Amino acid sequence: MKTLNNISGLRAELNNARRQGKTIAFVPTMGNLHAGHIKLVHRAKLEADIVVVSIFVNPLQFGANEDLDNYPRTLADDQEKLIEAGANLLFTPSAQDIYPEGMEPHAKLSVPIITNTLCGAARPGHFDGVTTVVNKLFNIVQPEVAIFGQKDFQQLAVIRKMVRDFCIPIHIIGEETARDADKLALSSRNGYLSEAERATAPAIYRAIAAIQTAIGSGERDYKALTDEAKRFLVDAGCVIDYVEVRDATTLMEPNSDSCELVILAAAKLGTTRLIDNLTVTL
Ligand code: PAF
Repeated sequence: MKTLNNISGLRAELNNARRQGKTIAFVPTMGNLHAGHIKLVHRAKLEADIVVVSIFVNPLQFGANEDLDNYPRTLADDQEKLIEAGANLLFTPSAQDIYPEGMEPHAKLSVPIITNTLCGAARPGHFDGVTTVVNKLFNIVQPEVAIFGQKDFQQLAVIRKMVRDFCIPIHIIGEETARDADKLALSSRNGYLSEAERATAPAIYRAIAAIQTAIGSGERDYKALTDEAKRFLVDAGCVIDYVEVRDATTLMEPNSDSCELVILAAAKLGTTRLIDNLTVTL
């Protein structure tokens, strides 16, 4: 695996690969890689000849109260995992490469409506930061396929919408969430949990799984289901941000046309905010 830290070096490698007729799959990350990210790399390997992974802790998607400086940076460890997973190219640009004139004067890409709800409501500007950097990375890498985790369901839906709205010729794949044995969704943030919080955390999965089962059995009173899940989570010791049943494409309240729903939850354990989701087809 080659690690490249500048745009022109990566482009030269990719042009070379394209001249040989190779297809490219792309996995954008912020590093601190865990088995969930490696699952994305394995999926990417099935989709194209060359797998490009980026590691860039994007300052534009962090809010003022979110700790950008303390975001774990574990490059040597990440490189080892990526070599083992069979990635071909690792792109590790600096903030100076991505935002050479600083973030303020940089053009921004904003996807409306779908970004105002759920995590977007609690993290204003976050998704503008995500779409701006992902669009930029797409233009640098120009892959045929890009792989994102379904755990960040709203991020995936926003990126799919950006790709549709701007006719970006990249196939977006949402890879199923990787989970620990007790079903806790893998996340870099799990490392911040105390032992007691880690023991409580699978309650989030259990709460949304109960809603999924109830909807699967024909229950359609989504408010009653989410209220019950909220009570369960509060009793378990979580501070709830939201528990919602939404249309899986628009992320709006389900209507009579909704055929795929998503149950989403966000809750804090101590200072750590965790998210999870499950889908259900009607
Ligand atoms: O999911 C992430 O790690 C980030 O939001 C992404 C997609 C790499 C953009 O910075």
